[in-house]
Amino acid sequence: MSKPKVLVTRRWPAAVEAQMAEVFELDLNSADTPLSQDDLRDAMGRYDAILPTVTDRLPAQVFDGAATRTKILANYGVGFAHIDTAAAKARGIAVTNTPDVLSECTADIAMTLMLMVARRASEGERELREGRWAGWRPTHLIGTKVSGATLGIIGFGRIGQAMAKRAHFGFDMKIVVYNRSPVAPELLALYNAEQAASIDTILPLCDFISLHCPGGAANRHLINARRLGLMRPGAFLINTARGEVVDEHALAQALWFGCIGGAGLDVFEREPEIPSELLGAENTVLLPHLGSATRETREAMGFRVFENLTDFFQGRPPRDRVA
Ligand code: 8YV
Repeated sequence: MSKPKVLVTRRWPAAVEAQMAEVFELDLNSADTPLSQDDLRDAMGRYDAILPTVTDRLPAQVFDGAATRTKILANYGVGFAHIDTAAAKARGIAVTNTPDVLSECTADIAMTLMLMVARRASEGERELREGRWAGWRPTHLIGTKVSGATLGIIGFGRIGQAMAKRAHFGFDMKIVVYNRSPVAPELLALYNAEQAASIDTILPLCDFISLHCPGGAANRHLINARRLGLMRPGAFLINTARGEVVDEHALAQALWFGCIGGAGLDVFEREPEIPSELLGAENTVLLPHLGSATRETREAMGFRVFENLTDFFQGRPPRDRVA
């Protein structure tokens, strides 16, 4: 039997590309630039599998038209809101993702953002590098204490739980969670956490709010101007989930007018575009979507896709099928 023809839409860690090339007829995107929707539609007719990332938009119109050859979209990443899974399903295309392997590193980046924004680390580094540091003084760059503060976690899946573990055991924080479905009492007990009844009730309780829910239409602008107004003055918003979960214009207003203390963002609504009103806000830490960006995790994500693909083409159900 001939090898399945597979398109990898971006460059992946070399070790994963090498292993996949042994099993599949692999096409790599050597330029490593995002594919257009026309490229993706065209690829659907030419490949048995496409391995997209968050930079590949696959709305319904990409699936429309000519009969497709593609049988599986094996996404490199846990979030898959960039794929219209209903449209994929309607055309008989399976979709998989890569959960688990990136939970720790993504929670680590959320912790990084929380510490950096509360302790004004970016502001301090900018000052120092620009030669503006006049030396130590008791009133210099005074931040907010993280240890012992209250952390609100919105979305208590794998990454939300990894965040709770770090904050509870490492920083003695009080944990409150909001989750669409009830969280098992024994899971809450692990972190001495409470479950809030709604987003509106969790916001005023917390010094830090960290977002760990999926993106997509259902959660678009979940954090809007009204909800930013429910946060404590001086509280911080951390987003390592998806940019669209936060109304960026409303957030910029809240930051500029000092309604909240600051924000730490790893994700943006129109990546890699960053609104200038966010770039200009001093009390923000902005990172270029680094959540899973460690060698260990990016390799593990790739091998997880490889496992999903080999299972699929050998007739076994892939473990991470989401549609
Ligand atoms: C990935 C992420 O690097 O997995 C996710 O959902 O947000 C990132 O950590 C990216 O999505 C790759 O597709």
